Amino acid sequence: MAYALPHLLLSSLFLLPFSAVAQTKGNVTIGASLTANDKSTPWLSTSEDFAFGFQQLQDKSLFLLCIWYHRVPDKNIVWYANEGNAVPRESKLVLANGGLVLSDSRGKELWNSGSTADEVAYGFMNDTGNFVLVRSDSVNIWESFKDPSDTMLPTQIMESGGVLFSRQTETNFSRGRFQFRLLLDGNLVLNTRDVLTNLAYDAYYISGTYDPSDSLNSGYQDGLLSGLSQKIYVSTLAGVEGSGACGYNSVCSLDDYRRPTCECPQGFSLLDPDDKYGHCKPSFSQSCDDDELSSAEDIYDFLELLDTDWPTSDYEQMKPYNEEGCRKSCLQDCFCAVAIFRGESCWKKKLPLSNGRKDTGVNGKALIKFRKAESNLRCFTYKELLEATNGFTEELGRGSFGIVYKGVIQMGSTNVVAVKKLDSLVRDTEKEFKTEVNVIGQTHHKNLVRLLGFCEEGRHKMLVYEFMSNGTLASFLFGDLRPSLNQRTEIALGIARGLLYLHEECGTQIIHCDIKPQNILLDDYYNARISDFGLAKLLMINQSHTSTATIRGTKGYFAPEWFRSTPITVKVDVYSFGVLLLEIICCRRSLENHEIGEGREILIDWVCNCFQAGRLGDLVENDMEALNDWRTVEKSLLVGIWCIQEDPSSRPTIRRVTQMLEGVVEVTMPPYPWLSSTTN
Ligand SMILES: *[C@@H]1O[C@H](CO)[C@@H](O)[C@H](O)[C@H]1NC(C)=O
Ligand SMILES: *[C@@H]1O[C@H](CO)[C@@H](O)[C@H](O)[C@H]1NC(C)=O
Ligand SMILES: *[C@@H]1O[C@H](CO)[C@@H](O)[C@H](O)[C@H]1NC(C)=O
Ligand SMILES: *[C@@H]1O[C@H](CO)[C@@H](O)[C@H](O)[C@H]1NC(C)=O
Ligand SMILES: *[C@@H]1O[C@H](CO)[C@@H](O)[C@H](O)[C@H]1NC(C)=O
Repeated sequence: MAYALPHLLLSSLFLLPFSAVAQTKGNVTIGASLTANDKSTPWLSTSEDFAFGFQQLQDKSLFLLCIWYHRVPDKNIVWYANEGNAVPRESKLVLANGGLVLSDSRGKELWNSGSTADEVAYGFMNDTGNFVLVRSDSVNIWESFKDPSDTMLPTQIMESGGVLFSRQTETNFSRGRFQFRLLLDGNLVLNTRDVLTNLAYDAYYISGTYDPSDSLNSGYQDGLLSGLSQKIYVSTLAGVEGSGACGYNSVCSLDDYRRPTCECPQGFSLLDPDDKYGHCKPSFSQSCDDDELSSAEDIYDFLELLDTDWPTSDYEQMKPYNEEGCRKSCLQDCFCAVAIFRGESCWKKKLPLSNGRKDTGVNGKALIKFRKAESNLRCFTYKELLEATNGFTEELGRGSFGIVYKGVIQMGSTNVVAVKKLDSLVRDTEKEFKTEVNVIGQTHHKNLVRLLGFCEEGRHKMLVYEFMSNGTLASFLFGDLRPSLNQRTEIALGIARGLLYLHEECGTQIIHCDIKPQNILLDDYYNARISDFGLAKLLMINQSHTSTATIRGTKGYFAPEWFRSTPITVKVDVYSFGVLLLEIICCRRSLENHEIGEGREILIDWVCNCFQAGRLGDLVENDMEALNDWRTVEKSLLVGIWCIQEDPSSRPTIRRVTQMLEGVVEVTMPPYPWLSSTTN
């Protein structure tokens, strides 16, 4: 049984066959040492399933003393010393008679395995993943199993009073906010804690395995223990301190695997963008000034979230109340950030919101106040943009909508912009323009190109975006220099995350409808940024258009449902993403014009043929880097094949795609994508 905390590895718990070859591995003699550098070779267990040694971290000057699955390519780390704190290069671990001692290059001690009255005779890296220090009479005097980090391995026992800590993040092993504890009374609990003081907040999960009939540690009395248990049950309901399982203002829900996921509600964004379990900051603050209060209805509005509540942030409850009264009361109240309306009750809540949860058991709705219509969008005059682009001279690109020009505008820290002239707007979308622009203006995600403003003067309709210095993915991918596999997979993941935001996380769902490498731009840091989202409605990229267009019958980026009467859903983007992912991994266009033979002109046909023949390796046969990292490449290709399933319902959601690419869920073998094509 494996216990998993957030940030914890999911797939690490398969056991590998034991090697039959006799080895002297496993034993570590007194005086043996390990040094933290690139050349360091770890101490292996007999079967070589587990290794004990230094792992280099993302910051290449830092190392972690740890135990990991040695024969699994991801080298999943299952235990670490020094509370997960990294140590500098050239730090040294020595096995002495007194135990393990870790010191930096100048000899300053950083960690040790604890003092013991007994002399250590030797160390042993057991095939169970347990590193033990053994006395001359073969008794273990120290075990890594007795000092767990964030993982329990098979055969490892958690003792009463035991605790696991989550990591800070996936790659920072220092102790994070989550704890998993076996209390002295027999209850297993999950709770968050204050990182600075280590104060444990009330549990958000309790196993309920308290058993007063169990023989208890002497020194503890029945009454005291049952009192402790009681307190935890009661205080879970009250739960007044700490932010809950997610950060302040965040909302926790359980995913398909019953693991907590945290999300900032609309109008809030992560305080630390790299810590998705962290706090969410509001995008605006309310003022209690008279002029704001008197025009509150013009300035603020509510976003509705069903089945969502922050049960511990109330400052006022009103009953009996109807929903209209509830809205009005919160709107007119400059302290009110959220109102919950359920039954005949209205609760008003103030910031920061804590213990946020989304669950069908919650009932009722949350009304989240937001400042409307500022969108930070600037309205430009035609003259301003004419000047900014020097008379629309420097062309950056052309798309289905018209031409994009480079321009310079003084606007906060930004000054180089991309001005998109929308020439081919459909006539009756005029009144939709403002609506759509507002929807686009409310999107904020690091994998989307940000809209800064717009111009709407008669027939002149333009959108002003931040400028992306590294051009389109098309030129990056199909240029002279092949980007590294790592760069390519990062870009693919960025695009998936941007799409996930558009499909599931922003206020109004946006189906992109035109995902292709020309519409993915790269910023200064080569992050993928999706552009042209939200324009599908304006540009009539819709079914009636495409069914007559020349793309009919080709297998470009368009999902088959475009050519049928089946409804257009977010799954069309998943399809296009799949094609794009295959292009990114194979580093070639979905359609090659020139003759390359062997049925390779259409990428997805080639992929399907290779897939059916069990020869996926042919797709990257000239790419040594890809062949050397076949596991990553194969995973990505299989995800791509899942996405291009002909039947939209067989395609995964973009959330699932993201999880598969991140490696948090397993990628299973997809069916052959075009099986049903003959029956349709
Ligand atoms: C490890 O060392 C101990 C003590 O020297 C010895 O008893 C044991 O057999 C050794 N184990 C292996 C697998 O070599
Ligand atoms: C290694 O683990 C096995 C299985 O739990 C156990 O029987 C053995 O005694 C362990 N060896 C040491 C040296 O702890
Ligand atoms: C991990 O996070 C802690 C606390 O934020 C920080 O002090 C430490 O430097 C980080 N470690 C690494 C290796 O980035
Ligand atoms: C990518 O952007 C950075 C930052 O603006 C710039 O220094 C670099 O030259 C760009 N690379 C290419 C290939 O344009
Ligand atoms: C396609 O766009 C046109 C023009 O906006 C619109 O009239 C039509 O209803 C749209 N069709 C679909 C299926 O969305």
